[in-house]
Amino acid sequence: VETVPIPEPPGYPIIGVLADIDREFPLGTWTALADKYGEIYRARIGTRTVVFCSSFALVDELCDEKRFVKIPQTALQQVRNGVNDGLFTANPDEPAWGIAHRILMPAFGPMGIRNMFDEMHDIAAQLCMKFARHGPTNKIQASDDFTRLALDTLALCTMGFRFNSYYTDTMHPFIEAMGDFLKESGKRVQRPPLPNFFFRNEDAKYWEDIGLLRNTADTVLQERKEARARGDPHVRKDLLTAMLDGVDSKTGQKMSDSSIIDNLVTFLIAGHETTSGLLSFAMYSLLKHPEFYRKAQAEVDRVCGKGPITVDHMSKLPYIEAVLRETLRQQSPIPMIQVVPREDEILGGKWEVKKGEPCTIFIKKMHTDPAVYGEDALEFNPERMLLENFNKLPKNAWKPFGNGMRACIGRPFAWQEAILCMAMMLQNFNFVMDDPNYNLVYKQTLTIKPSNFYMRAIIRDGLT
Ligand code: HEM
Repeated sequence: VETVPIPEPPGYPIIGVLADIDREFPLGTWTALADKYGEIYRARIGTRTVVFCSSFALVDELCDEKRFVKIPQTALQQVRNGVNDGLFTANPDEPAWGIAHRILMPAFGPMGIRNMFDEMHDIAAQLCMKFARHGPTNKIQASDDFTRLALDTLALCTMGFRFNSYYTDTMHPFIEAMGDFLKESGKRVQRPPLPNFFFRNEDAKYWEDIGLLRNTADTVLQERKEARARGDPHVRKDLLTAMLDGVDSKTGQKMSDSSIIDNLVTFLIAGHETTSGLLSFAMYSLLKHPEFYRKAQAEVDRVCGKGPITVDHMSKLPYIEAVLRETLRQQSPIPMIQVVPREDEILGGKWEVKKGEPCTIFIKKMHTDPAVYGEDALEFNPERMLLENFNKLPKNAWKPFGNGMRACIGRPFAWQEAILCMAMMLQNFNFVMDDPNYNLVYKQTLTIKPSNFYMRAIIRDGLT
């Protein structure tokens, strides 16, 4: 095959483009490069290269699991310092992935998630209670309150632990440690090539944070084991139960304690910022587009009325689901993921990538490819994501939950939680932007969310 060189932004010797990457918002740099160089470019970061693909056609190729495989690189490889071969960060050849995956898939299935509804409802009600008590003039820091929701929900549903984030002014130390751990994991990849002692303080803090995360999970695990040993009648059935009791059908093995801890921490990491980002962006987008806001609220009023929201409502809110899908298209909280070629490969019929070279599936950018989403791809329009339209999209054109075997195990969990939370909020309040002129600014750790986005919640006096 005749190949052509992959466009490559000029960099500096040794560090490549490292000096040009926006420290606080690397996504901005990668997006600007995609705008400039097109659907594929190769960036040299220090001693490594990474290929970035942002058209549907190229992403479609990268989603072929026979040709490409996820092997954690760069930031995700750093996250392994905290959670090892947990589901998110495992290498394909690590047996702990398969064992955990097979044991946990059923627990994350429809029945498992349905059974978590009451606990999700409990936490969503706490969020709405807080909005109500603080009153209509209170500035709500949206992504903070949604982070509390996501984290409290995960901890409660997965392991019966209550962070009680709505009852404290400061976030649980676990939350801060996790945020710092993720941020530092990202920064470690972009370090200039200096000797390690330059980073002594950062490193000490990094390992302290990891210790706090793992100790918290270990405490929960040990307490559960003790409660079971005592025959405590109040012991719950949750994901932790599935992890303690589950036997892998293929190997006959159970999950080890350390694998349980890896995965408990993984759920909290993988599930809280993503879900919080989804809800924050969804509210931002609705508030920017009152016509869609009104339709979403009208659907909730029609379907749920003034009574309690139940698990049976969850499948009856197609417009809310379309809003969530469209939000994830425009604002994928995980804006990019990576795979590597199993062998030397040709992309797009002409660009050569080498076996093992990291290739980025630029999800967020691909989601605006006019070839799939048309000339108005940049616009927020939930109607394009109503089920009948959504089902017509080509396979691999909507990838906010990742791909194939390594796709998100928590998708049904996040989905139910997000539908419930949106419905409960819209049923009980009218929201306004605190600053009507606010325009989206991003904040990035391993995920993206809106920065400094404030809204206010005005309780509804009955339905309009
Ligand atoms: C994997 C997105 C919620 C647990 C992934 C991946 C994406 C993703 C893109 C693939 C990562 C990669 O290829 O490197 C999201 C989004 C969410 C969400 C957008 C919310 C809107 C959750 C929740 C949980 C969770 C609530 C836990 C309950 C996981 C795990 C994996 C994963 C364990 C790794 C799966 C594996 O490789 O076996 N997620 N996620 N996620 N997610 Fe989620």
